[in-house]
Amino acid sequence: MKWIAAVLVLAVSASCYVASSGAEDDARKVATPAPAASGQAARGVDPDRVMSVRACLGCHGAETLSWMNSTHRNSHLRLRDSNAGSYAEELGIAQDKIRESRICMRCHATGQTDRHGVVRALTGVSCESCHGASGGDDGWLNAHAVYGPNGTTFEQESAEHRNWRRERCEEAGMVQASQIYDMAKRCLECHLVENEALVNAGHGIGIPLEFLGQTTGEMRHNFHEDQYVNAKGPTLWSRRTGGKVNVRDRQKFVVGLLTEIETSLRAFSQVKQESYYSSCLVERAAGGWGLLAEAGRKLKDDFPEQLAEVVEWLGKIENLNASDENSRRQAADWADVVGKLAREYAAGDGASLEAFDAVLGELAAPVGKPFERK
Ligand code: HEC
Ligand code: HEC
Ligand code: HEC
Ligand code: HEC
Repeated sequence: MKWIAAVLVLAVSASCYVASSGAEDDARKVATPAPAASGQAARGVDPDRVMSVRACLGCHGAETLSWMNSTHRNSHLRLRDSNAGSYAEELGIAQDKIRESRICMRCHATGQTDRHGVVRALTGVSCESCHGASGGDDGWLNAHAVYGPNGTTFEQESAEHRNWRRERCEEAGMVQASQIYDMAKRCLECHLVENEALVNAGHGIGIPLEFLGQTTGEMRHNFHEDQYVNAKGPTLWSRRTGGKVNVRDRQKFVVGLLTEIETSLRAFSQVKQESYYSSCLVERAAGGWGLLAEAGRKLKDDFPEQLAEVVEWLGKIENLNASDENSRRQAADWADVVGKLAREYAAGDGASLEAFDAVLGELAAPVGKPFERK
């Protein structure tokens, strides 16, 4: 197997990730189609079912405090940054309507439908943006904290009831700690900006997902077992499954990268012609592939065969051309295979990824400092 100097791809052009003044680069505007809402508003959580942080606060105090100290809590403030106006303008959104725009709100705040049926932006990216909108009679919140017939406590809950309750919540759209793949997908709904007009207007394509490092730093809020100790891994999940955090970490790293590659390739396969946007999608997929390839170089013979295959055929990633139908079909096929693999690793026991333990420290640094409750 040939290991290509893949990480270099990321270094070539960092411009897809940072804001740049639109005027600087007219080239990227050439192939921009009319700004379309393109189903963007339909993605993400359902504002009709959003209950807000207040519905969680009473039982999840430490988690809420940690969220209040996180970047996500202030993500709506970006809509007041100096660049916000120019992005909005390109998309035909009036300056004074930016905060009410479903397109911007979907990623920068948590939308909630008020009594008059108007969707309003609640502060930041909050609990339900990641764990799923919880309200409504058949919503997950109703099932979430009921442990059995009247008065049954969490400690007294029967195993059957617990399983039933968890399944019920999952069916109703709750994303729990055990659902590594679904959670990574949830991050990417915001962190891969699948909006051609917006990206061509200069809004970054999004920070690439490195699920392990990003969830173990500032974002970490594993307080359920002890409201004063922010554990390394989710405490409920550990207690329920007996799962080990180091094994989970391997899975989070590999599943996160595969999901990043899958989602970028899938978005690319839906583009109609070459543009700045399509080149950013290739760059994202290539970046994820580069990190996987780096893991392969470090692990040598211990790198799982299935992953080595992915690295090998994705070596042709830079030949992708959005104006070529075969190329788009190729990207869709790759996305299918990589996505399937991601789901398999998420559902598996992580044993085949054991060798990663030795190198994760070098490949995945926590982003920011975990919140400590004094
Ligand atoms: C009445 C108390 C109560 C309320 C209100 C509540 N929770 Fe919980 N939550 C619990 C308890 C108890 C657990 C642990 C039991 C379980 O579900 O296994 C839990 C567990 C969780 C978990 C971990 C599930 C897992 O296994 O990974 C998440 C995530 C969660 N809650 C999110 C929320 C969010 C978001 C809200 C607000 C929309 C909320 N909860 C409201 C009591 C509550
Ligand atoms: C940006 C996404 C995101 C937001 C916002 C978020 N969570 Fe989480 N939550 C996660 C992830 C990911 C995990 C699993 C953590 C891990 O793997 O270490 C988790 C785990 C949990 C757990 C399990 C903790 C344990 O010890 O088992 C609870 C409870 C929880 N979240 C509640 C909340 C509440 C309440 C809020 C809002 C105040 C919230 N979360 C906001 C993504 C999020
Ligand atoms: C509803 C949209 C949304 C979801 C879901 C979401 N994020 Fe974010 N995230 C944002 C926005 C918007 C920002 C930028 C906030 C800012 O800069 O003020 C952000 C910021 C971040 C940052 C900080 C970046 C920095 O430069 O400091 C990290 C890390 C991050 N998100 C990771 C995640 C992960 C991991 C998940 C999934 C568990 C996730 N996010 C889920 C919208 C989202
Ligand atoms: C698909 C999700 C998504 C949508 C839609 C979105 N953003 Fe963002 N935005 C992000 C994320 C994530 C970041 C954090 C930086 C990053 O990841 O690149 C961000 C960062 C920003 C920033 C700070 C960085 C910069 O470019 O100056 C501004 C300003 C901004 N967004 C404005 C807007 C406006 C205005 C809209 C609506 C027209 C919008 N965003 C729509 C996800 C989104």
